[in-house]
Amino acid sequence: MKFYIATDHAGYALKEFTKEIVKSLGHDIIDLGPDSADRVDYPDFAKKCAKTVIKDKGSFGIVICGTGIGISMSANKVACIRAALCHDYYTAAMARRHNNANILCFGERIVGNGVAESIMDAWCAGSFDGGRHCGRVEKIEL
Ligand code: RB5
Repeated sequence: MKFYIATDHAGYALKEFTKEIVKSLGHDIIDLGPDSADRVDYPDFAKKCAKTVIKDKGSFGIVICGTGIGISMSANKVACIRAALCHDYYTAAMARRHNNANILCFGERIVGNGVAESIMDAWCAGSFDGGRHCGRVEKIEL
């Protein structure tokens, strides 16, 4: 799998850790910034990641801010993005299975390193169930 990752300052530390998790699971990850924990605005990085994911078909995004809320709201403003705010293994698994999510969001102030690792396990092991979920996911864009 190929991932793009972006955060704000409040997600910077977890970005560095998440990159290592993704690599250890055998996947590719490209860092879209920021390059330090200096204050930045989460919509700028959410949209950068979302637009990159749309251009690179089949790729996934990971966006992190303090709570995961602002950065997920911002990513979802980009057409064809289904950004899911996930707090644990179950929400990450269901975001893939039922919502065919293409961007994973979480909050550094909400999840610790261990939970982030289990979220990544769920995301990487998951796939879209299709079937009855196809029409519902299509309706998100209507
Ligand atoms: C930054 O302080 C914080 O507001 C931001 O990271 C995020 O939690 C917003 O939703």
